[in-house]
Amino acid sequence: MTTWLGREHIHLPACGSTNDEAARLAGAGAAHGTVVTADEQRAGRGRQGRRWHSPPGENLYLSCILRPTLAPDRAPAITLAAGLGVADAVARAGVQPVLKWPNDVLVDGRKLAGILTEMSTRGQRVQHIITGIGVNLGSRSFPAELGERATSLALLGVSIERERFVAELLASLEHWFDRFFASGVAALADAWLARADRSRVRAASGGRAVEGAILGLDPDGCLLIEDDAGARHRILAGDVVPVP
Ligand code: BTN
Repeated sequence: MTTWLGREHIHLPACGSTNDEAARLAGAGAAHGTVVTADEQRAGRGRQGRRWHSPPGENLYLSCILRPTLAPDRAPAITLAAGLGVADAVARAGVQPVLKWPNDVLVDGRKLAGILTEMSTRGQRVQHIITGIGVNLGSRSFPAELGERATSLALLGVSIERERFVAELLASLEHWFDRFFASGVAALADAWLARADRSRVRAASGGRAVEGAILGLDPDGCLLIEDDAGARHRILAGDVVPVP
């Protein structure tokens, strides 16, 4: 059960992208906590303009409309709260995932779920945030371009009805969103690090490639890496790649 998240829930048989539907509804005044799901997305979107595999009936495509009182530069870290919510729901379904900064939920190095946060601002105010979540529940095959990089609960031997998974997911998302809205990234940092992929990583910092160990998150939600010389780097954006 939730208190505010998903009390309004719109389910569509098909759409382009649940994030786009949610943004349209938010623009028309939909309430904080409204959730949009679809059986199928014909133009499901991932980060960096990638497509999100969204065949009919197999997986979960869900977007939350959020209207927190947050400065726009604090808002992107909501993706970290969503990642914890997804990871908890997946763990309750019987699979232990790891989080890869900023928005991937992985099992055995393959992507089980992804999060796409988009925001509308006016001046220094957030009008609304759309946090879109795709979880591969039932797909047993993926497009060739994903190669071996994607997985699903079905491929991991877990069968769960979408409605049941949605109920678990909304409860855990609400928990982590509440904590984030009350206390920011500090309220997530320990739990995030406990679930993080702690491999050595390579990332870009200040236009340079840096390599090192993950230390955790800073108060803005940036990833902190320590290189072999002991220097610390804040990673603001971009892909973080595990290195052997
Ligand atoms: C990523 O890892 O690149 C983010 C994937 C986000 C996919 C979800 S599915 C529901 C929502 N609608 C979209 O078009 N994208 C997000």
